[in-house]
Amino acid sequence: MSSVIASLSQRAAHCVAALWLCAPLFAQAQNVAEQFKTVCQSCHGEAGVSQTALIPSLAGQPSFYAVTQLFLFREGRRANSLMTAVAKGMSDSDLRAYSEYIGTLPPPPAQSMDGLNADRMSRGAKLAQEHRCASCHGADFSGGKQVARLATQREDYLLQTLREFQSGKRLGYTTAMNETLVGLKDDDLPDLAYYLSNAPRAK
Ligand code: HEC
Ligand code: HEC
Repeated sequence: MSSVIASLSQRAAHCVAALWLCAPLFAQAQNVAEQFKTVCQSCHGEAGVSQTALIPSLAGQPSFYAVTQLFLFREGRRANSLMTAVAKGMSDSDLRAYSEYIGTLPPPPAQSMDGLNADRMSRGAKLAQEHRCASCHGADFSGGKQVARLATQREDYLLQTLREFQSGKRLGYTTAMNETLVGLKDDDLPDLAYYLSNAPRAK
């Protein structure tokens, strides 16, 4: 675990350096694809598919969801030292340009089904059904409008962010998620994250 944290903070230092160099580019929304490559990919991965622990993939997220989250980071309502630093220099048109670009990135591909733990998948599926996750996130968990895509998102990030919603550390744009998680126990969250991350291949 400590090596994960060490490699993450090493990566973060690299990203923040890239960000500093690229800060003047923020104003030029027309170069958003280039800026995404230079600034965002160093953390969020090529074409927005993250290879880094606890950093979410952006690929496949609805642009409306992306813009609300960038707004929350910029205004300091969603707190994360790495992302807050990125978002705080953005203008409204930067927020829109990045979000529109994110909306064009194809979702991360589903992984192979080999080695999937069937017990954990069925426990996760049962919890998702009991708590009606699909009623907002869609039958295939691909999200839409201001609701996040969950399918093929990194499991470690899903688990962390669910814990943050549950503890009240992460405040959503609305209180939908904080309220949804009230009925869930700490022990439920790992199987839920496992299932959601892998859900498309369960169908
Ligand atoms: C230094 C690393 C770093 C860089 C550079 C970075 N991000 Fe992030 N980003 C993060 C982390 C870490 C999170 C997750 C924060 C959390 O857990 O609350 C995140 C979350 C996000 C989210 C919310 C995703 C979700 O599923 O809720 C969006 C949108 C986003 N970043 C967009 C961007 C854009 C656009 C750029 C480039 C302008 C960028 N990020 C650059 C680290 C970074
Ligand atoms: C009433 C609608 C609603 C229901 C029901 C719901 N969600 Fe959400 N969920 C949302 C919205 C809206 C967001 C975006 C958060 C925000 O507003 O900032 C979200 C965000 C999330 C995120 C963050 C994704 C990311 O990329 O950061 C996770 C994880 C999540 N939901 C999991 C779940 C799970 C698991 C369930 C079922 C236990 C569930 N949701 C039920 C509306 C809902």
